[in-house]
Amino acid sequence: AQANIGVVGMAVMGSNLARNLASREGNTVAIYNRSWEKTQTVLDEHPEAGFVAAHDYAEFAAALQKPRAAIIMVKAGGPTDAVIDELVKVFEPGDIIVDGGNALFTDTIRREKAVRETGINFVGAGISGGEEGALLGPSIMPGGSDESWVTLGPILRSIAAVADGEPCVTHVGHDGAGHFVKMVHNGIEYADMQLIAEAYDLIRRGTGKSPSEIADVFAEWNKGELESYLIEITAEVLRQVDAKTGTPLVDVILDQAAAKGTGAWTVQTALDLGIPVSGIAEAVFARSLSSKPAQRAAASALPGPSSDEFQVDDVDGFIEDVRQALYASKIIAYSQGFDEIVAGAEQYGWDIKKGEIAKIWRAGCIIRARFLNRITEAYAENPGLVALVTAPFFTDVVSKAQDSWRRVVVAATQAGIPSPAFSSSLAYYDGLRADRLPAALVQGQRDFFGAHTYKRVDAEGTFHTLWSGDRTEIEAEDTH
Ligand code: 6PG
Repeated sequence: AQANIGVVGMAVMGSNLARNLASREGNTVAIYNRSWEKTQTVLDEHPEAGFVAAHDYAEFAAALQKPRAAIIMVKAGGPTDAVIDELVKVFEPGDIIVDGGNALFTDTIRREKAVRETGINFVGAGISGGEEGALLGPSIMPGGSDESWVTLGPILRSIAAVADGEPCVTHVGHDGAGHFVKMVHNGIEYADMQLIAEAYDLIRRGTGKSPSEIADVFAEWNKGELESYLIEITAEVLRQVDAKTGTPLVDVILDQAAAKGTGAWTVQTALDLGIPVSGIAEAVFARSLSSKPAQRAAASALPGPSSDEFQVDDVDGFIEDVRQALYASKIIAYSQGFDEIVAGAEQYGWDIKKGEIAKIWRAGCIIRARFLNRITEAYAENPGLVALVTAPFFTDVVSKAQDSWRRVVVAATQAGIPSPAFSSSLAYYDGLRADRLPAALVQGQRDFFGAHTYKRVDAEGTFHTLWSGDRTEIEAEDTH
């Protein structure tokens, strides 16, 4: 056996990851794909990689040094289960099976439990960075056992992106922790993309600037505190001219955003955990709304301001307001995402280091951004930080941004330009900082129709008002 690591699945992500592994000192990579044809193509195109190609699972296992370690890069769901079943047959106790796809973390927990029975380690690893990241250096979020990390750690460190000299990989926690964190990463990705899209829309409609002019705005923003991969690629997309029509590409792309499900998982999980990830949820719903052409056509004649009437007087001032609103809303999205990670860690018993997560997101992944350093610092200063937005640095940013943020939401509302992520992030912020919330009234209503009881601000215990009787208050059992 010559190989120290194997990859199953030679589609683009799998072959790129295999090439990345092969390009690093000390790695020899075994590869396997269901159809040999694809394996042959990879071999022909990348002789430099020195792959050890297997025709079947037995040959694949024989090519791997013990403890064997193999990364599965196939479609999530059934195909992943099928590969696991095959690997379990040819692997031995102590060997390691890694699922590098976007699996739902509860599937990873289930698989880890089942595979562990055989003595084999199962590691769900979130891998972010798209095709280019897989090839040149992704951000990697592995879960699984401590035993598996001993073998996997050095291998994954060898291929991960590097930020300030540190590889963007850490052992996130046991069983499904890695895929959980990757799921939240994707939820934040959805929010960030939607916020950027809203910023573009407002600037375009409010200032009449062309997509390529707005590309310049984003390129400028990318030099400052908003510097990030998503801002950078936004400028590139906006600058692209369609060869067929000679118009900006963004104007000929159908305005219906697709989704493969990880954003929805983030929100579904947050609902179960009771964590308000409202910015992420709005981003997921904005994609759903965009993809309902029949409803949109039927509603297109509904009354409201015509968006062409919207014209700001102070173009530079407005653009700066939008930038501030974007920065503040982005902080909210990350704050909500980290809340979900904290709640997930508590629920599933994972020891997740928040600062480490921010660190491994600094390079390689889709949401990589300059300000992640600030998140790492915030958790380093105060590991028990209850909400990211309350860390001194972020409080400072938000206090500077909030007037702009409000102006943008007001302008968008008045102009009839949908800005669900901007406005819900602001509502979340105001909700969080409110002295008193109308939740008190909701409790009163619940008590009225269902005797659901309430607590008082001035006394211990649980109370109920005899609404259908003489309306006196009695002490009651807590029913929540
Ligand atoms: C990444 C991306 C990657 C994928 C998204 C796309 O981190 O590299 O998040 O995982 O591009 O899942 O998701 P949608 O198709 O749902 O937009």
